[in-house]
Amino acid sequence: MSKRIITVFGATGVQGGSVVDALLNDAIAANTYVIRGVTRNPSSAAAEALRTRGVSTVQADLNDMSSLSAAVSGSYAIFAVTDFWGSFKELGQEKAAELETAQGVNIATAALSTLDTLQHFIFSTLPDASRITSGAVKVPHYESKAHVKEYIESQPELRAVTTFVWPGFYASNLSWDILKPVYLDTAGQYIQLQGINGDTPVYCLGDTRANFGVFIRAILTQKEKVGNGNIVFAYVEMITLGDLLQMWAQAHDVKAQYVHIEKAVYDTLWPGLGGEFVMGMEFWDWVKNKGSWMGDEGSVLNWRDLNIDVGALTSIEKAVSALLI
Ligand SMILES: NC(=O)c1ccc[n+]([C@@H]2O[C@H](COP(=O)([O-])OP(=O)(O)OC[C@H]3O[C@@H](n4cnc5c(N)ncnc54)[C@H](OP(=O)(O)O)[C@@H]3O)[C@@H](O)[C@H]2O)c1
Repeated sequence: MSKRIITVFGATGVQGGSVVDALLNDAIAANTYVIRGVTRNPSSAAAEALRTRGVSTVQADLNDMSSLSAAVSGSYAIFAVTDFWGSFKELGQEKAAELETAQGVNIATAALSTLDTLQHFIFSTLPDASRITSGAVKVPHYESKAHVKEYIESQPELRAVTTFVWPGFYASNLSWDILKPVYLDTAGQYIQLQGINGDTPVYCLGDTRANFGVFIRAILTQKEKVGNGNIVFAYVEMITLGDLLQMWAQAHDVKAQYVHIEKAVYDTLWPGLGGEFVMGMEFWDWVKNKGSWMGDEGSVLNWRDLNIDVGALTSIEKAVSALLI
């Protein structure tokens, strides 16, 4: 049997790179699939590194429909991710969200052009916060992705082969400017400013680069459980933001304090970005207070449903201890 083509968007990034790793690190998957990594710049060092590992690279841009149809042609499987934050700084919240939706619809349209070979369309998205909360919580970078889900669901043949994935909170977010704990001499400890309660739960993916692709590999091998617009929530453990900080502190043998400030003040410290991040966390804060919160999102599978040995994945603790302090 000739190898099946899997086209991986974002192959030079965290999610797509993790998918590539998970497929190459597994003998059966490596024998089953030929990996085609999509990049805007095939001459980048990251693209070159993919080729040295046997991944072919194809030039395409999510904003250029004709490049996308060629990139996905003949695919047995497609993993797709869009990058809200890549354009956020330049375009701001509203325009970045519009662009992300348009890019996702472009990928879905390209996937429609190869339905004759396509058995898995795996789309990285996030919960439709506004719809689930009946408008109580709005999160532009969640909803921009969820709108693509709506488009895919309007295409029955594509929906039949589609599995949506919600990537959990990356442990590496603690290295992000807005979340990185800062040492305060006068307090003799690290502080982390946050625009949301410390008891807000996050479904954390631990080391995203190490763990995310394992979920995608499990989707590819358990077709009977996925597709039909089912959702896979890729996380290893639920933890509160406050406990996550304390886990980070313990791992680095330092003291740390979680300082909750008003969202509006937080947003003046990291204009735009602070508010957008807090909106995402407000959704999970809302979830905390609900028993059954999924609304009509449909079936949401997790590591248990996919028989993933979560103990063999990189834990949150190990992931935060590897972060530079
Ligand atoms: N941080 C979290 O906790 C978290 C949790 C859930 C979801 N997310 C979502 O994850 C997404 C980012 O994924 P990531 O972390 O994998 O990103 P990343 O590591 O920054 O990589 C972005 C990838 O997207 C590709 N890309 C960007 N713009 C493109 C375009 N116009 N055409 C083709 N490819 C393009 C880049 O490829 P080239 O540069 O090679 O072209 C790169 O491989 C965001 O939308 C974010 O909302 C994040």
